[in-house]
Amino acid sequence: MKTVRHLIEPADLNNEEILDLIEVGKKIYEQPGNYAHACQGKILASLFFEPSTRTKFSFDSAMMRLGGNVIGFADANTSSAKKGESLSDTTRVMNFYSDLIVMRHPKEGAPKLASEYSDIPVINAGDGGHNHPTQTLTDLLTISYYKKTLENHTIAFVGDLKYGRTVHSLIKTLARFNTKKFILVSPDELKLPKFILDYLKENYPEIEIQEARYLEDVITETDILYMTRIQKERFFNEADYLKLKDSFLLNKKKMVKAKPDCIVMHPLPRVNEISYDMDDDPRSIYFEQSKLGVYIRMALITLLMEVGDYATC
Ligand code: CP
Repeated sequence: MKTVRHLIEPADLNNEEILDLIEVGKKIYEQPGNYAHACQGKILASLFFEPSTRTKFSFDSAMMRLGGNVIGFADANTSSAKKGESLSDTTRVMNFYSDLIVMRHPKEGAPKLASEYSDIPVINAGDGGHNHPTQTLTDLLTISYYKKTLENHTIAFVGDLKYGRTVHSLIKTLARFNTKKFILVSPDELKLPKFILDYLKENYPEIEIQEARYLEDVITETDILYMTRIQKERFFNEADYLKLKDSFLLNKKKMVKAKPDCIVMHPLPRVNEISYDMDDDPRSIYFEQSKLGVYIRMALITLLMEVGDYATC
């Protein structure tokens, strides 16, 4: 029996596959017409148990641009989850109605559980503070597109490194591609979890890691500035969030000290991390980043559906 491939965490893809997906993503970006019918007759089920703009609609757009169709919900209250249906039952039933499931869930591990009840591919579109593998692929395509290589960069992660699943997925994946240095800029309360830091130190001792409290202290040496939102929805009480919510704001004044070819990324949505006066700085590429998310997701869908460049004979 054929094995079904899921994407639950970036480690489900090896380095060669990631580099290949980036190349296919670039090809699709340049010649989308060549892929316009790759998923004709296929249906993507978009099951979002948590809010989203970019991930949900870039997946919907990706499937439609491949000639496929999309069903699903953006609000679990409109599904039978509201009546108490289990995730396993929902997954089993959606297997009858679709060819691919894209799932976002506030609970860590939910897409993994769903994959255990699924004969069709399940893609994790973000599970709690855990992983966000397709944001990682988007980020890698963006870095490759703007910096020409994934290797040898100094990357500063700024903001909520404790709850930010985009950081957790990206940092472990970039470590696989000869990163020069990680700079971790956060308040004490929102530091990168120790288990991830330990993992990096143990498996990639050659990568320099620096923790910092203020962006101003490290901005001059940074090649890639990865800003993140303070994850309000993951805090246990409002007072803690209010205390930290405006910890970092990147603006034109701070950016004066940055390298001329530094790129500023953000998975978005932004709340109060990048001022609007940064939007016309050519180094700000966060909107281009969200645009590229469509093309890497098109590439991923073709991989899991075995169509387009991944068609099997
Ligand atoms: N980057 C990201 O995951 O954005 P959304 O929450 O809008 O999907």
